[in-house]
Amino acid sequence: MQLPTRTIASTKAEIPIIGVGTFGSDHISSSEMAEAVRTALQIGYRNIDCASVYNNEKEIGEVLKTCGIKREELWITSKVWNDSHARNQVIASAKQSLKDLQLDYLDLYLVHWPFPNYHPPHCDVTSRSPNARPYFHEEFMETWSAMEELVSMGLVRHIGTSNMSKAKMELLLASCSIRPAFNEMELHPCFQQPELLSYIKEEGIIPIGYSPLGSPNRPERDTTPEDVIDMQHPLVVEIAKRHNCHPAAICLKWAQANGVIPIPQSTKERNLRSNLESVLSDPLTEEEILTLRGADCNNRLIKGQVFLWEGAESWHDLWDEDGIIPCPERYRKGGK
Ligand SMILES: NC(=O)c1ccc[n+]([C@@H]2O[C@H](COP(=O)([O-])OP(=O)(O)OC[C@H]3O[C@@H](n4cnc5c(N)ncnc54)[C@H](OP(=O)(O)O)[C@@H]3O)[C@@H](O)[C@H]2O)c1
Repeated sequence: MQLPTRTIASTKAEIPIIGVGTFGSDHISSSEMAEAVRTALQIGYRNIDCASVYNNEKEIGEVLKTCGIKREELWITSKVWNDSHARNQVIASAKQSLKDLQLDYLDLYLVHWPFPNYHPPHCDVTSRSPNARPYFHEEFMETWSAMEELVSMGLVRHIGTSNMSKAKMELLLASCSIRPAFNEMELHPCFQQPELLSYIKEEGIIPIGYSPLGSPNRPERDTTPEDVIDMQHPLVVEIAKRHNCHPAAICLKWAQANGVIPIPQSTKERNLRSNLESVLSDPLTEEEILTLRGADCNNRLIKGQVFLWEGAESWHDLWDEDGIIPCPERYRKGGK
């Protein structure tokens, strides 16, 4: 079976319309995740969403090497982590991911977050790194120009962003030499980000939807009492009954209907299979797509609290919700 693809306007390359996620947090070991990738490839997935910070690229690389699938049939994404935003670190990080994944080139390389802020693994979500700082466009452009360099070096075929706001994307599009071909963003029925999603699409950027099922098994420290569970939302459940499928399939059909490439993660063959099948047949009707707008309750799951700087009020400061990028005076004066 050959998966349907979408064509990237600038390069005419083809990306499969669904991928598989590889973030296991602290509850899925790297070898377990690599086995899930092997199963996914056997079932027919060809689009794998990796990242250096997921700490499993070496194990996934072994699977890519031994799976018997030609390199040109695969779409492999990786991401530069927040601790490697300086020019030489971006280049070194991409080279390390290539080495670990045992590849000569990446199909897509993303800036994982637009902040150089990082935190020790498994730290408390309320902790703040003393070195964390708000977004500075000039600083981000240094990172982005290193991303552009990776394209000229032939190490990376496309570059893109992740966790961007509209305000930050507008600045990037006004300043870059190579435009982002993709933006990876949290998208699921209970968090539809309609304004940002429309803007991304109007700019010809392909949206990749992360946590497309609402990340139901994420660790407790990453949940808040207000969080809504997409797969239990009455509208999602009702439409799943009509299609005689699991609510997870409706979340993925919703992504597909909205021009989004979803990257659901699973370690179970049964779920990997049904996730793939959900975007291959029985799409949502126009009426169902409209109905599902009612499920959007602006329920951001990945809030990014651990990237906050001293003095920031809350995780809302990371997302420029009023269209303004916060730049507190003390950081402005102190520079970086
Ligand atoms: N760019 C970023 O900053 C960013 C942030 C977060 C995530 N991501 C990427 O997006 C990927 C997906 O996001 P995610 O892992 O947070 O969440 P998700 O894909 O929304 O949810 C994954 C969870 O759903 C369960 N699941 C999968 N298929 C199912 C089905 N058919 N029925 C019922 N349950 C099902 C899985 O458990 P089972 O194993 O039991 O199936 C798994 O625990 C990540 O792995 C990562 O690659 C990127």
